[in-house]
Amino acid sequence: MARRSLVVVANRLPVDETVRPDGTVEWSRSPGGLVSALHPVLIDRRGTWIGWSGGIDSAPDVPDADGIRMRTVPLSEADYEHYYEGYANSTLWPLYHDAVETPAFHRRWWEAYQRVNLRFAQATAEYAERESMVWVQDYHLQLVPAMLREIRPDLRIGFFMHIPFPPAELFMQLPRRAELLRGILGADLVGFQTRFGAENFIRLAGRLLNLTTTGAQLAVDGRIVRAQAFPISIDVDEMESLGRDRDVIARAKKLREDLGDPDKVILGVDRLDYTKGIEHRLKAYRELLTAGRIKVQDTVMVQVAVPSRERVEHYKILKDKVEREVGRINGEFGRVGVPAVHYLNQSFDRAEVAALYLAADVMAVTPLRDGMNLVAKEYIAARVDNGGALLLSEFTGAAAELPESYLINPHDLDGLKDTLVRALEASPPENRARMRAMRRHVRAHDVRAWATAYLRALEHPGR
Ligand code: G6P
Repeated sequence: MARRSLVVVANRLPVDETVRPDGTVEWSRSPGGLVSALHPVLIDRRGTWIGWSGGIDSAPDVPDADGIRMRTVPLSEADYEHYYEGYANSTLWPLYHDAVETPAFHRRWWEAYQRVNLRFAQATAEYAERESMVWVQDYHLQLVPAMLREIRPDLRIGFFMHIPFPPAELFMQLPRRAELLRGILGADLVGFQTRFGAENFIRLAGRLLNLTTTGAQLAVDGRIVRAQAFPISIDVDEMESLGRDRDVIARAKKLREDLGDPDKVILGVDRLDYTKGIEHRLKAYRELLTAGRIKVQDTVMVQVAVPSRERVEHYKILKDKVEREVGRINGEFGRVGVPAVHYLNQSFDRAEVAALYLAADVMAVTPLRDGMNLVAKEYIAARVDNGGALLLSEFTGAAAELPESYLINPHDLDGLKDTLVRALEASPPENRARMRAMRRHVRAHDVRAWATAYLRALEHPGR
């Protein structure tokens, strides 16, 4: 039989739009991430990517990106507000992240979520070749697998949840919880970041839908659905080559000079999201300065906070809180020309991020809950010099794979402070040994291995 072709379905298309000075539009493949991992497979399997272009009320013809066909699903202003900002990012996102902010439930958001999921399912049904594999991504599209199966039972359907899948106590709050589960169960294979996510899902499906479950398998309408962990990773080759790049190394040196050549640099790089524990990290730093355990002339902090979901209320509130805390720390501990926290509310290109990684003695990754956290893995991959140290929250998917990091509970501020100081003061051989072990792990588990393992399991369920 001919190899099955592959269709990836995700909320966003993996392309960036640039408008040239003459007004013409250019699309280029986004660097890093999922699309790099899937690129070889997509080329090999006549692949198509179906997603939203990022604009409102428009379905631009996005040209093939490096040989991958792009198909656009449009969103109206109302879809953007109720499906994307509403149901996806104000109901599901906070609920699935331990309800660290209170999820909101509105019926019009749910209606928009259904409507947009159906649009994605219909577009996929239209483009997918006979018996192809369709891989649906993330929490925005949980209804798509079942909707798609209904129209196209010939397809082999996979679903991967990039964010945590919550325990029953939280999931049960959802007014339309059974429908969401049934939506996901339209897939043949359901992937999660950790085994906890898979277990939560299997337990819920058994309890709420009375399905028979055996290990990782669920019996659904005479079909077998498997649910298991496939921890995602990063493009290790890309980060390693940036870590070795002369310009990046020179840039890292320059960054340290610009920071006033401190002994130590603590770095945070996050989307500005309330799940990331940015405030906890800043508070720990402030308390260490107050207690005199670290001094600004020796130890500075750089916090990159990439703008995200800026119209959503919780994100606006977070931005204010973070900026107030940065102002407070700099007001109290900075000097003219020497701030204590260098706060950058911007996004940077991959080379600049890699230079920041190389410049950092301690990378602080302190989420309250995170599906995986790829920044932690990128930092490790970039450190081809085996330098630096990783402070990592236990509540990230990455923590399960990186026991050699400095693990912390971000809610335990004293523990966070002590561990941060330990990471700053550890002997270079200790930190090198930890970094070497983590690099070995990340190199052996890059995003290509992830995609291959998942797609193999989807294509050959018995093996
Ligand atoms: C998380 C989600 C992704 C999402 C990304 C950026 O990593 O798992 O699906 O694309 O955040 O968020 P945005 O809302 O800008 O797509």
